[in-house]
Amino acid sequence: MPDEIEHWLRLNPQKEVYVLREDQSLKDIINPTIQPNYDMHSLLPALNASRVLKDHDEIAVIRKAINVSSIAHRTILHHITSLKTEAEVHALYLDVCIAHGTQLQAYPPIVGSGSNASFLHYFDNNDSLKGKGLLCMDAGAEWECYTSDITRTFPLTADGWPSKEAAEIYALVEETQERCIAMLGPGVRYLDAFFLADRMVAEGLLRLGIFRGEDVEEVLKSGVTRAMFPHGLGHHMGLDVHDVRSISVFQGNPQARRLDDKDDFRMQHAPCTKEAVLLEPGMVLTVEPGIYFNEFALKKLYLKDPHFAKYIDEKVLERYMHVGGVRIEDDILITKDGYENLTLAPKGKEMLDVIRDGAKCTHGEGCSFRANGVD
Ligand code: GLY
Ligand code: MN
Ligand code: MN
Repeated sequence: MPDEIEHWLRLNPQKEVYVLREDQSLKDIINPTIQPNYDMHSLLPALNASRVLKDHDEIAVIRKAINVSSIAHRTILHHITSLKTEAEVHALYLDVCIAHGTQLQAYPPIVGSGSNASFLHYFDNNDSLKGKGLLCMDAGAEWECYTSDITRTFPLTADGWPSKEAAEIYALVEETQERCIAMLGPGVRYLDAFFLADRMVAEGLLRLGIFRGEDVEEVLKSGVTRAMFPHGLGHHMGLDVHDVRSISVFQGNPQARRLDDKDDFRMQHAPCTKEAVLLEPGMVLTVEPGIYFNEFALKKLYLKDPHFAKYIDEKVLERYMHVGGVRIEDDILITKDGYENLTLAPKGKEMLDVIRDGAKCTHGEGCSFRANGVD
């Protein structure tokens, strides 16, 4: 290898060597009389730009990671009414993934029931499910170094949503996710899907009476949606679950700006940034709107700040606190004609049907769950 580098440096009069960091100097491995010119700025954007577009083989591997995770999510739904703790859910999920050949997870699974679902990165996964209404499970397996990232939020009993409020919040997140996914395709600015999600959440919460204000424009301008939708719409997914650093995926768009203090903190992960490239075939990204009723964020921060408090009806909010949090997350491939939703884990009505059928199952001989292989 040092020979090849020296050969290349002799052929290249500029003697450019692209490195990521200062400590990647070649001084100990090549002839010390050769003085390369180190460029520490160009390599990361180039690596990131190539990581954003997945080729056929990468897509096949990602598909496999998603398929295994989808089977594990479906199995959890099938068994959920007989599981008693978040830890049991976590364990069964891992059991299925490992049985299907994935030893590793793309990130530590998040299994949050009741109010635990209101914490974005809840990893304790050790609470009882007793008396809880919903469970939010964000879990994705890894296959040959490539990731998947799936979230489902579902009731813990066979007879559907535990309350009218839970059903309303799920329906709002579901419709938001469906409409955002439907607008994706080549040439689309992903940030516009995020703005649609923000608007739909604001409109929905106004309609339910949780937000108050003259109209949706006023509510959106106030920034109060962040109190209940505190993250972006999604991110690229590939070798890392958040595949590339946002600042490096830059299109040279003259209108693009860097994130500054006045920008919304939710616009941090590519492609949910102002400077992100427009969507192209071969990109794989998540779409994951969510609405959360986090006691600390709402009662200690937003309701204590008069700027935000005037847009939140505390009395109505109180009726919804038990919902905890609802997020629905799918993994989407951008294709030349639009998109393909790669995620097979059930959601919406199909998800409720799997729970109901699972509650009737004896999990005996005829039960095929955990036995299905993935090719
Ligand atoms: N599971 C991490 C994320 O959804 O971004
Ligand atoms: Mn995600
Ligand atoms: Mn996730």
